[in-house]
Amino acid sequence: MSEHTGTINLGLTIIKGRRSIRKYKDTPVEEHIIMSTLEAARLAPTARNVQPWLIGVVREKERLAKLGELVQTGKFIKEAAVCFAVFAKKDHKFYVEDGSAATMQIIMALQSFGVGTCWVAGDKMPHAPEVQKLLNVPDAYTLVSLIPAGYPAEVTVPSKKELDEIYFMEEYKEE
Ligand SMILES: Cc1cc2nc3c(=O)[nH]c(=O)nc-3n(C[C@H](O)[C@H](O)[C@H](O)COP(=O)(O)O)c2cc1C
Repeated sequence: MSEHTGTINLGLTIIKGRRSIRKYKDTPVEEHIIMSTLEAARLAPTARNVQPWLIGVVREKERLAKLGELVQTGKFIKEAAVCFAVFAKKDHKFYVEDGSAATMQIIMALQSFGVGTCWVAGDKMPHAPEVQKLLNVPDAYTLVSLIPAGYPAEVTVPSKKELDEIYFMEEYKEE
């Protein structure tokens, strides 16, 4: 609740409610949610507005299972209802940043519908070329992230640093 207006800040509520979800219910994610999520990705900021992305949406059970086999750090992809794969043009200087911005838009859009996600590393990972081959994505692109998603079956709460450990005002000073 905002101390000044008494209104609820919905955006912040969604941000605060997000956790990485690695266990999913066996319930499909609705088409309109998937399309709204892609629309959120489309609106992400990019350096010089290049919009260098290509985003794959995987729902076929066999393909999700194959992704789970290929990705050592994301075996749970095979249990997801859907997995988004964010690629970006590798000759673009800011492909990681731009791909990451789209990744967060996808994660937050899904969170706003109550769909859980987990960012699974793509860039610099050994599975990246294999995932790219599985999805038949042209060489000009490279994998930035995978985002398995589904209605949460289990929520874990990781520890976070305290606020005063992560910021400074104006100028950093040693304690
Ligand atoms: C760049 C990046 C790569 C990540 N890769 C993986 C991954 O490969 N597998 C995984 O289970 N989680 C992965 N995560 C999720 C983190 O483990 C998670 O965000 C962190 O533990 C904090 O938990 P929270 O997301 O619930 O706040 C990744 C997160 C980021 C930002």
